[in-house]
Amino acid sequence: MECQVTFVEATAMPARTVLVTGGAGYVGSHAVVQLLSQGHEVVVVDNLVNAPRGNDAASPLTECLRRVQEIAGKTLNFHQMDIMDRSQLDRVFACYSFDYVMHFAALKAVGESVEKPLLYYKNNVGGSITLLEAMKDHNVKKLIYSSSATVYGTPQKLPLTEDHPTGVNCTNPYGKSKYFVEEILKDLVTSDKEWRAVSLRYFNPVGAHESGLIGEDPQGVPSNLMPYIAQVAVGRRPRLQVFGDDYDTPDGTGVRDYIHIQDLAVGHLAAARKLLDPCFQGFRAYNLGTGSGLSVLQLVQAFEKASGRQVPYEVVGRRPGDIAYCYSSASLAKRELGWQAQKGVDEMCESVWRWQSKNPNGYRSS
Ligand code: UFG
Repeated sequence: MECQVTFVEATAMPARTVLVTGGAGYVGSHAVVQLLSQGHEVVVVDNLVNAPRGNDAASPLTECLRRVQEIAGKTLNFHQMDIMDRSQLDRVFACYSFDYVMHFAALKAVGESVEKPLLYYKNNVGGSITLLEAMKDHNVKKLIYSSSATVYGTPQKLPLTEDHPTGVNCTNPYGKSKYFVEEILKDLVTSDKEWRAVSLRYFNPVGAHESGLIGEDPQGVPSNLMPYIAQVAVGRRPRLQVFGDDYDTPDGTGVRDYIHIQDLAVGHLAAARKLLDPCFQGFRAYNLGTGSGLSVLQLVQAFEKASGRQVPYEVVGRRPGDIAYCYSSASLAKRELGWQAQKGVDEMCESVWRWQSKNPNGYRSS
């Protein structure tokens, strides 16, 4: 196991019943593997807008969730539904006795959010409010929230610590939606002392489960760097476009804090332990990052090494809204959650390559 501290404590935690919204997506599915592996009962709700059903349309599960069960050797409960549908949510809450909720369900394409702000606010903010109302009425007042480093906007100081201002210079509706929900959670825990919420601010999640069975499967042209590199390496796309090599960074390309999805998933279990600690109160946000940055070209080189394939690229102009540097301080999560990232860039790239080469068309190829 990659994080011994987390593992030892997690096994000591009694089994819980957990509602996971968006559990058929990239981050959610890896968290579900962790939850099942630790003996928890998992109920996934997902509307599948960004999660392909897979080839077996008759199966009640998506291909991703079928593989999640295969990896964990456990079964989960799945309800295809939208968190904006209050009556369906009520039915799910009435069927189970949840200890807490992990809330991943959201739209996440930054560019699309600029074109369709209302869609993003309706899903990400409206959906979260509907979920919170249902939780309140069913007396389930503990939440792990899937947030993003994007709430910090343009960094005023690096590394980014959790006390860095949020909401300032959040330039797109996706980022603002994450910020707004954090603010709603702060108000909620103030209004009622029974509420507890942990917000996890992800830096740049990459990688796949070590089995190569589950991984990131973006619909259409990937907008993020790692899945784009992987699709170039596997021959689905001719070359990567590097968005600018004139930043004030060592090689001129953008620097980000890439974190292995497995580390991120383990971080959710560490956060759940915090949430369930009787001493924990209110709202707390934690960065989930490694604490160090890699440039675009460093990631390309690491991927070429891991895959043994060339990743042709061309340098083009900067992408609007991009910044030179973004990386975390990971010390608060280490201190308060006993969690820190264990996996480096080689493992990130090796796992992506295993996933991509075994599944060149993602979940649809099986
Ligand atoms: N990049 C390229 N070519 C590409 C894609 C990206 O050169 O085809 C570069 C970007 O310019 C940037 C780096 O690769 O320097 C990383 O870009 P990503 O799109 O992978 O990630 P971002 O850091 O822009 O955004 C990510 C998530 C957001 C989240 C943000 C938090 O995609 O959802 O991190 O900081 F909000």
